[in-house]
Amino acid sequence: MTTTRRWLLKSRPYGPLKDSDFDLVTVPMPDVGEGHFLVRLTHFSFDPTQRGWLGGDTYLPAVPIGGVVRAGGIGEVVASKHPGFEVGDVVQGTFGWQEHALSDGTTETGPVTKLRGGITPEQALGVFGVTGLTAWFGLTEIGQPKAGDTVLVSGAAGATGSVVVQVAKALGCKVIGIAGGAEKCGWVVEQAGADACIDYRAGNVARQIREHAPKGVNVVFENVGGEILDAALANLALRARVVLCGGISSYNDTAEDRSPGLRNYMNLTVMRGRMEGFIILDFAKRYGEGVAELAKLMAAGKLKTAEDVAHGFENCPATLRRLFEGKNFGKQLLKV
Ligand SMILES: NC(=O)c1ccc[n+]([C@@H]2O[C@H](COP(=O)([O-])OP(=O)(O)OC[C@H]3O[C@@H](n4cnc5c(N)ncnc54)[C@H](OP(=O)(O)O)[C@@H]3O)[C@@H](O)[C@H]2O)c1
Repeated sequence: MTTTRRWLLKSRPYGPLKDSDFDLVTVPMPDVGEGHFLVRLTHFSFDPTQRGWLGGDTYLPAVPIGGVVRAGGIGEVVASKHPGFEVGDVVQGTFGWQEHALSDGTTETGPVTKLRGGITPEQALGVFGVTGLTAWFGLTEIGQPKAGDTVLVSGAAGATGSVVVQVAKALGCKVIGIAGGAEKCGWVVEQAGADACIDYRAGNVARQIREHAPKGVNVVFENVGGEILDAALANLALRARVVLCGGISSYNDTAEDRSPGLRNYMNLTVMRGRMEGFIILDFAKRYGEGVAELAKLMAAGKLKTAEDVAHGFENCPATLRRLFEGKNFGKQLLKV
């Protein structure tokens, strides 16, 4: 093989992602110099935060125009002049949307790691990757639920939300999910084990939360933001903790259509509540601990996962769009 393909960012996206924001290019296969190794990517992770990385500077610098689209992935080492990596090693890192990635053992978000035995690539990118760790540390460290608490989880049928639901149940909480549509809500209750799930598309989310949690919610795990967060804020119990994990409903907003803001935030004052954001990278030193806890739950049969696997490198942009169209069921991946 003398060439390989990459997806580059062609123009800074404005509003929902378009095919014209990206360029699929064929380039010569990189030479492997001393201290480097070449990875053939087999699996890509799709994450809402990629929309932020493409749009401008966030907690990481924006992907430059003409740069490889940033993404997490897993692949096999096919050539190596690096003492720490051998041909055949299966490795994980933020390699970007490229069929082959040249690496010196580091990526923008941390070191390249070798996959541990007994973990599939799908699990490594999902429940035992950033997704599951976000659920674990966001809920336990920021949300700090106690047995008997009522926990409200938006995006509950998604990759992160579905893990939050199950961890909260395992910790002895009453769990109310919020998701889009009857099918997803059915899964959240029947498979993930939530006590109830609110279909936000059926309207009046605030009233529906009140029906399920008449005494208010102690922990809100927020993945969606906007109107859904506002409905949660209207239903806080005393000293509630609101975990601001994400706000996907606004990631495609432009300056013109940005929502005016929250109406019910003063309920944090009335109920002496706390709202706190976090970025999972801050917990990087404790990932091993999080994986061990999640593995314990899985071994005990308390953690089920759903994976939504697309195919074909040429489908990367369309697969990323699925997250913003609510088309994914559980963790969105793409297999080459
Ligand atoms: N803070 C951190 O470090 C961190 C790390 C990872 C992820 N996150 C955040 O966690 C959240 C979930 O990420 P994920 O990777 O697990 O994705 P995901 O939940 O698997 O997929 C996104 C889901 O969001 C929902 N959604 C999309 N647009 C929406 C809208 N306008 N209104 C309501 N719901 C909408 C859709 O579900 P429905 O069909 O139910 O609408 C969609 O399936 C995101 O906000 C992400 O940014 C944060």
